[in-house]
Amino acid sequence: VSRADGVDRVDVVVVGGGAIGLASAWRLAQRGLAVTVVDPAPGSGASGVAAGMLAPITEARPGEEDQLRLNLASWSRWPAFAAEVESALAALPPTAEAAGEGAGIGYRADGTLVAALDADDRAALDDLVARQRSLGLEITTLRGREARALEPGLAPGVRAGALAAGERSVDPAALVAALGRITGAAGVTTLASPVERVVLAGDAPGAPDVARVTGVALAGGETVDASMVVLAAGSWTGSITGLPDAARPPVRPVKGQILTLRQPPGEPLLTRTVRGLVRGSSVYLVPRRDGRIVVGATVEERGWDTRVTAGGAYELLRDVLALVPGLDDAELVAVRTGLRPGSPDDLPMIGVGAVDGLVVATGHFRNGILLTPVTADAVAAAVAGEPVPPEVEPCDPRRFSRTGVAAS
Ligand code: GLY
Repeated sequence: VSRADGVDRVDVVVVGGGAIGLASAWRLAQRGLAVTVVDPAPGSGASGVAAGMLAPITEARPGEEDQLRLNLASWSRWPAFAAEVESALAALPPTAEAAGEGAGIGYRADGTLVAALDADDRAALDDLVARQRSLGLEITTLRGREARALEPGLAPGVRAGALAAGERSVDPAALVAALGRITGAAGVTTLASPVERVVLAGDAPGAPDVARVTGVALAGGETVDASMVVLAAGSWTGSITGLPDAARPPVRPVKGQILTLRQPPGEPLLTRTVRGLVRGSSVYLVPRRDGRIVVGATVEERGWDTRVTAGGAYELLRDVLALVPGLDDAELVAVRTGLRPGSPDDLPMIGVGAVDGLVVATGHFRNGILLTPVTADAVAAAVAGEPVPPEVEPCDPRRFSRTGVAAS
């Protein structure tokens, strides 16, 4: 077994170069640690497909109080996090891609408008508004015509709406690209390789029975030796071998299909994030400054299947055109799929793992981009042996080892 080229023993190896892995690596490097990120194609997982809604209010579901507290903790970190990323980026020499429209991370703070199409959708909207208010969240109800005054592209049939003015969005692909550059500038090394397994001190023949991670083995057989290993590989985190079953995070892939449209020429049909309740189903549209609109998303339990399907694309197009008919003439730029890392109890797994030297940051399901800032802070704390932020405490990855839930 040989050492990976150019990488001396490091303090921390982060497995996974999506938004969470890179933001964690950045926070660790800011604490003066030597950090290596390993990912065969950084940003190509769920982060590269995510719409980037920073929406703790309209995504809040009943009975998920821990999730809501966590979402709000990260949401309140986003303005400072976005400003910090943007200023670190501005301090770097400009690149061809980062000039003009592509500069920055596409952070927008213009709220989410929820629009209900028919009478049943209106009833669902009333429930949603009542639920948000009972949780103390700020949301304003709108008549159909008030909603259309804010977003004139909405169908004339839209019956009612609501505005969550505090919600925001970011362009996740731009965020990952920015984090890639600023982590590099902060001294983080990135290795473009799959990780084959986590290496444990207890692996060696005759070693004592107490396991401790000592690094990772790459697919080519080389190793990266490290004092701590952070697993932030999204859906793939549970497939990394080498750990005892009880320490393997029980994540599962949850497929999402998502469209990219380009607004037709002329006045933009959409200016802020719109979430539609459309004849019993739900769709969201997230506009970018360059005229693209990201439309999502299906939620499918289909294992590792990443096919774009006729039914998935149809469902999204049907709902989006019912809600914003003028998008009929929009260019259909792409249909893509991503795999969200699902967790058995819908709370992520963040914090120290069930083996010494292991830290876990996965299972963020529908909220990985929203949860990036708080997760990165928690990872940096966990690596340093400090307590994680209080809102992250329920996310202790060891809750599954204790109850004996094994990785699937
Ligand atoms: N948070 C949006 C989605 O997962 O589709």
